[in-house]
Amino acid sequence: SDEPAARTLRLGFTAVDKNQNDLVTVPAGYQVAILHALGDPQHFGDASWAGDGSESADSYNRRIGDGHDGMHFFGLSETGSYQAERSDRGLLCVNHEYVVAPYGLHPSGMTAGAVRVASEVDKEIAAHGVSVVEVRRGSSGNAVSMVRGSRFNRRITSATLMAFGGPVRGSDLVKTADSPAGTHTRGTNNNCANGYTPWGTYLTCEENYLNVISRAAGDNALRSAKEVSGLNRYGLPQNRVSPYRWDTVSSSDARYARFSSSVTAASADLDYRNTINTFGWVVEIDPFQPDSVPVKRSALGRFNHEGAWPAPAVVGQPIVIYSGDDARNEYIYKYVSNATWRASDVNGGLAAGARYLDDGKLYVAKFNADGSGQWVELSFGVNGLDASNALYPFADQADVLVHCRLAADSVGATKMDRPEWGAVHPNNGEVYMTLTNNNASNRVAPTATPTGRQARPDAANPRFYNDGEGNTGNPNGHIIRWKETGATSFSWDIYLFGAENDAAADVNLSGLTAANDFSSPDGLCFDPRGLLWIQTDDGAYTDVTNCMMLAALPGRVGDGGPATAVGGTATIKGANATTDTLRRFLVGPKDCEITGFAITPDGKTMFVNVQHPGEGSANLGAGLISHWPASQTDAASTARPRSATVVITRSDGGEIGLA
Ligand code: FEO
Ligand code: CA
Ligand code: CA
Ligand code: CA
Repeated sequence: SDEPAARTLRLGFTAVDKNQNDLVTVPAGYQVAILHALGDPQHFGDASWAGDGSESADSYNRRIGDGHDGMHFFGLSETGSYQAERSDRGLLCVNHEYVVAPYGLHPSGMTAGAVRVASEVDKEIAAHGVSVVEVRRGSSGNAVSMVRGSRFNRRITSATLMAFGGPVRGSDLVKTADSPAGTHTRGTNNNCANGYTPWGTYLTCEENYLNVISRAAGDNALRSAKEVSGLNRYGLPQNRVSPYRWDTVSSSDARYARFSSSVTAASADLDYRNTINTFGWVVEIDPFQPDSVPVKRSALGRFNHEGAWPAPAVVGQPIVIYSGDDARNEYIYKYVSNATWRASDVNGGLAAGARYLDDGKLYVAKFNADGSGQWVELSFGVNGLDASNALYPFADQADVLVHCRLAADSVGATKMDRPEWGAVHPNNGEVYMTLTNNNASNRVAPTATPTGRQARPDAANPRFYNDGEGNTGNPNGHIIRWKETGATSFSWDIYLFGAENDAAADVNLSGLTAANDFSSPDGLCFDPRGLLWIQTDDGAYTDVTNCMMLAALPGRVGDGGPATAVGGTATIKGANATTDTLRRFLVGPKDCEITGFAITPDGKTMFVNVQHPGEGSANLGAGLISHWPASQTDAASTARPRSATVVITRSDGGEIGLA
């Protein structure tokens, strides 16, 4: 065999019961500590988080941001370079996806009114983005703590200078007042999941950037029909006010005006009509060079990038990165570099990034009913992607990449049930991706006539049912997987279907039990040993349990036995799970999402993010649902909840998850 010999793995912990406690619950024999939470200072010049919203906006350029999400641990050598095998010292990069402003940042929530308060918006801009912190193990045990004041500690925010790399650099489509040449932009926003490269850089992915982008009334009349169709396909109709309304602070101050993608500027230095096109990218950050300018890698396409998941690098082979567009009925993508991997590029930083990530081909996935699939190339001049395209006349490769949803529409890619995270098996290269859920407005009944971008159930997205609690479509989600069978072909099956364990057999298709039932899979990560970690972001099961993380030994593509889905679709393949192959490891605090996973190379220190605990709270004070993380050690705490990274270790110092 040409595969590396895999260890025989066996799950070795007692399943955690579903619960609604305001705690992170882990199996007996494991310990939980908080690494950092919203507002913690990275350096010594700023005071500790006060818990009352009194911190200045400026101080958030040096504090941990909000909405912890995707992350990665990079081993740090004594000379400050990337040392992949090191576990006791490293740099932890964490995404700060969005702000839960009423409960964490401001003295008394967001101030009401049509015009936002500048100081609040300044704080929100700084609390988004990414944090980099140095972490180290102490003198006992495998837990790590943040090294306050480390020269590597850094915040990247929604105001940080960024460069463009790849075919979109210099394109008219990304020219703004921040960079009339279209080579740079400012800020990264709504950074959801992530990736990492074998040369030691972090990839952060821009997902729900429409949270902060508005477009003026009457804007369509000032644009071409082609521009309007592109904006509409990306969810930005005219006369649209963004949820965070940052642009309302001022139309004459570029710091705020840049969040309205409108042709209304009084002068060129306020022209941000293209600001929308500067978001939705994979952004590469070199955590080992704190002064480096992050680069938006345009060759990987623009959409609601959940994350960017690399296949293991092989010397002499291309770099391969998988991505999902997290919106209902959107697509799965694959990027393949033109350059082939050479190990001498480890520690090559952003120059190595340019070599592998600025020059390559982007593909979109088509899943066939017979279990085969194709990667369809999205290159200008190929597959009808040119000026004669009936759906959208493409001008060049930059246009294809900025509007790759339209390119994917035009080649007939398969509409999926919201692609969230992907993960590539470290030993056999098979790829897994969560399809978190879908609803009946988008995945319509098998007998319905789809309109617009609606789709009926199909082999890869086979479920349409009502869970008896008001959710119809595919409310519990599933996990699909595939293996590459050629340069542009793959075979696939469905690994696992989410369900409540007491659901009917035609809904609980994987035979889940009380020890491993879950709903709405979202986060997904293989650790280096080959354990698969599944995290949930659920609305359909939170009446019974808080969101969770499970450990799995998933087998191989083709293991899935036949199962018959409800809703009249054909027999489909889907694996059964047992408590030997799938087991609940962690349950989070109230009203949170469990998202973001990292582990040290020795498998002994695990990082998990708790995002937006208490998000559904009615108000501050008595209206707060959660007081986590303070509640982890003080059941009587009345503190504000905040997003945080937890560090999990085994009390006996052993490897996490295994027998
Ligand atoms: Fe930010 Fe798709 O989750
Ligand atoms: Ca997610
Ligand atoms: Ca989600
Ligand atoms: Ca969430």
